[in-house]
Amino acid sequence: MPQDFVPVTQSLSDIYAEAKCDAQKKRYQNLVESFKSIYGVEPEFIARSPGRVNIIGEHIDYAGFPVFPMAVDRDCLIAVSTTSSDTKVHVANVDGKKYPAREFDYDTECIVHIDASIHEWTNYFKSGYKGMLEKLQLKESPAGMNCLMDGSVPSGGGMSSSAAFVCTAAMATMKANKRNLEKSEIVQIAIESERYVGVNSGGMDQTASVMSRADSATFIEFEPEFRTIPVEFPSTEPAISFVVSNTLVTADKVVSAPVCYNLRVVETSVGAMLLAKELGLLDSNPKTYKEVMDIYFTKQDEPKFTSETEQWSYRLEKMLQLVEKYIVKREGYTESEMSHAVGLSDSEFKSKFMSKFPVRAELFQLYTRAVHVFTESLRVVRFRDICESRKSSVSDSKDTFTRLGQLMNESQESCRDNFNCSCPELDELTAISRKAGAYGSRLTGAGWGGCTVSLVSEDQVETFIKTVRKEYFQKRFPNITEDEMSDVIFASRPSSGAYFYTF
Ligand code: GLA
Repeated sequence: MPQDFVPVTQSLSDIYAEAKCDAQKKRYQNLVESFKSIYGVEPEFIARSPGRVNIIGEHIDYAGFPVFPMAVDRDCLIAVSTTSSDTKVHVANVDGKKYPAREFDYDTECIVHIDASIHEWTNYFKSGYKGMLEKLQLKESPAGMNCLMDGSVPSGGGMSSSAAFVCTAAMATMKANKRNLEKSEIVQIAIESERYVGVNSGGMDQTASVMSRADSATFIEFEPEFRTIPVEFPSTEPAISFVVSNTLVTADKVVSAPVCYNLRVVETSVGAMLLAKELGLLDSNPKTYKEVMDIYFTKQDEPKFTSETEQWSYRLEKMLQLVEKYIVKREGYTESEMSHAVGLSDSEFKSKFMSKFPVRAELFQLYTRAVHVFTESLRVVRFRDICESRKSSVSDSKDTFTRLGQLMNESQESCRDNFNCSCPELDELTAISRKAGAYGSRLTGAGWGGCTVSLVSEDQVETFIKTVRKEYFQKRFPNITEDEMSDVIFASRPSSGAYFYTF
């Protein structure tokens, strides 16, 4: 594999679509001016990593299954200057009112202390800083850094503002210390270090943020090997468009983690262990449903497959049958029922599943979560298959939209009913979107609020946005301004991944 480093550019047109360059130029100039007035020196470089919209494949990355996101042109910028005279790190934000400036010093013992119990914006910066320095193992003291951040990914909106921030901070720390790691290493660092803030996240967001390419979505595989495959959307006539709309219900993953995100991670990992036990696979110690599936099929006779999609479908459908058979308690499992079912003592169970991240529940829904994981994975491979096999046909665009849209709608249903990660506002906004002409509409990201993504034919985008504005936003938020509106509903194209901008 050729080495793949974060590209360095002096031209904004390498990063953004031509139509966006003027606005970005102003934004970059403003960042540089503010930097100079805060720190009294010029920045040496700007690190940049974007947010993402997940087109399909929700809550299956941490079960080891592929997902299908694309980067958006909303991103996190961190302008940096360095010094070798001390190791202090100053972190400020262009929105200093909302995000007050902080300062910390490098600590030889723990690098930097992060208090995950406090909800503090610079925790994300510290996570990326700490993760990168842990990896770099510098012999000398790390550089002192002046940093100024400008983020345009809406926070708590399901577009992975936090991953964009952690990735950018890790990149900024790397370059400030004159090192160069490959993109895939930066991704791994960002995945692991985001967990310092208390959420046991999967790897989709960081991968999409760093590795994405303009004009393609990214099919991300985690197991058996981490790899990313750029996939273009089918060339239809009219073109395909994705509209992102924010419910304006703020979903903070960190705050709700014990009863939402972290709980789902536990429910799916315990389910995987239960299935492994029932199938006699515990010796191989699989940790995710994908590992269970891979190990199970090494021991099975299978038909000859003519394509990867056929093999995926066969295996995933088979796994669904096994779930039906072995995850028997449809009403849910108590903690002690789970430990019994996986063959661990209560204290072993606690230390394996319940102690690393905060989790709270009376009953754990192993069955419905498993149904979601395997059906959602099927939808992802089918979605990719349609994209790849429909490259040149323009005559049947409507059929392509309908098929892709249907997969997105089914994903929303499963997120709502099996994974319980939707909320009334997401349900309403997706329903309004379908009525307004979307072929498919679903929540994107972790859910419980945040954004939806809708597949809309490009020639319909304007009418679609007008209708959704009227039916959702103006009804719920009659005082919303035009400016705010352009931030809560917008069409998005697949954009480029991480970059360094230099002067
Ligand atoms: C968050 C996590 C991701 C992924 C999604 C749900 O964005 O950070 O790893 O699990 O939720 O698909």
